[in-house]
Amino acid sequence: MPSMHALSPLFWGLNLLPLFVGAAPSSAAADKPYSTWMADSIISYNIVPQTRWYTEATFYRGIEAVYNHTASPTYLSYLTTQIDAILTSNGSIKGWDFADHQLDNIRIGSTILYLYTVSAPKNPRYKAAIDFLHDRLLNHQNRTPSGGFWHKDPKYPNQMWLDGLFMAGPFSAAYAALFDAGKKDLWDDILLQFALVEKHCRNQTSGMLKHGYDESLKAVWADPVTGESPHVWIRAQGWYFVALVDVLDWFPRSHPGWETMKKWFVQLAQAVKRTQDKRSGGWWLVMDEGYPGRAGNYIESSGTAMYTYGLLKGIRVGILDEKEYFGVAERAWGLMTERFVARNGTNGGLNWEGTVRVGSLDGKGDYNYYIGINRVENDLKGVGPFLMASVEMEAYKARTL
Ligand SMILES: *[C@@H]1O[C@H](CO)[C@@H](O)[C@H](O)[C@H]1NC(C)=O
Ligand SMILES: *[C@@H]1O[C@H](CO)[C@@H](O)[C@H](O)[C@H]1NC(C)=O
Ligand SMILES: *[C@@H]1O[C@H](CO)[C@@H](O)[C@H](O)[C@H]1NC(C)=O
Ligand SMILES: *[C@@H]1O[C@H](CO)[C@@H](O)[C@H](O)[C@H]1NC(C)=O
Repeated sequence: MPSMHALSPLFWGLNLLPLFVGAAPSSAAADKPYSTWMADSIISYNIVPQTRWYTEATFYRGIEAVYNHTASPTYLSYLTTQIDAILTSNGSIKGWDFADHQLDNIRIGSTILYLYTVSAPKNPRYKAAIDFLHDRLLNHQNRTPSGGFWHKDPKYPNQMWLDGLFMAGPFSAAYAALFDAGKKDLWDDILLQFALVEKHCRNQTSGMLKHGYDESLKAVWADPVTGESPHVWIRAQGWYFVALVDVLDWFPRSHPGWETMKKWFVQLAQAVKRTQDKRSGGWWLVMDEGYPGRAGNYIESSGTAMYTYGLLKGIRVGILDEKEYFGVAERAWGLMTERFVARNGTNGGLNWEGTVRVGSLDGKGDYNYYIGINRVENDLKGVGPFLMASVEMEAYKARTL
């Protein structure tokens, strides 16, 4: 539900006239919030296909944050148009492939659920789509012997990737909270997904988590004892960081899992703080000890935006200490607005730079694989988290004015 901020939508929308041709983006920042500026730019380029894929859903999460923050009907109508295009008249999802079970397909459920909660009257087509996706997850997604959802079935049997916690976690938690709050086993099941990843992927010394693990130990990359993959990949760990802080919004405080997940989040925040690149303020694509600064490694923008969002939100909801973490987020924010936000030609729009296209455990998951993937301009997996971080930063500034 859009909870209105103290500042009116008018305040945030006031300075949207294209007066900034030729100026560096940062010089206009005082006048024009990056959240709406970036959102309006990307929407205006017509580069967001009307599909149900997680890439778009990640961008929509950013637009949700912007709508939540501005209450501007433009963003709600944009989301509605994008989602209505993928649903049939009875709320089934167009082109659904019933043989393809992957957590990535579940992420759009969060967008639809958000629309359901903010639309009045409640749209039964959205509810049908939400119920459908929840049923696909709960009753049709294969599980490891310990109960963890396979990342993709049949492609990645018995594998859990950190990415999957973002794809299905906040959706399951919101669903449980809104429609099934009494069912303790739903909460236990959500907690279990995080607990399995913690057990297999977390390094208690560094505080960081490897990209994924294979419970059957069969993947070419699987460590013969733990099943974990070889590296800490910035975005996988970013998905996980966001998943934790977003799930905490819904998870009942009365459930012991709330404290446990909070502890995991804070432990990761500590690692994120420790591994921030001192010079730039961002984070390296491959983050394990010994890799930052290596030939081919670089400061990646989508992960940097995810960590910034997580830190700022953690401060806002009172689970991270402001004195300890705000400076970290502020340095990363400086980097993003100076280096990753760029002008798009002379039309006053913004581009988002430096987001790695993909990172998968399809091959060997080794260092050369990760650094060999190209970076893409205006990649929605980076734009979405940047919007989320921008909204948090703008809300922070409004609070502390
Ligand atoms: C909307 O904003 C409120 C207040 O800041 C926050 O508690 C809530 O989590 C936000 N929701 C979304 C979807 O961003
Ligand atoms: C919903 O509509 C689609 C096609 O428009 C159809 O295939 C499907 O059977 C319908 N589902 C229900 C529950 O009526
Ligand atoms: C765990 O982290 C420590 C500290 O960064 C590192 O030395 C060690 O190699 C890591 N272990 C694994 C299995 O990655
Ligand atoms: C502006 O953004 C669009 C969409 O990503 C892109 O196709 C175009 O190349 C960009 N133009 C410039 C000058 O950056």
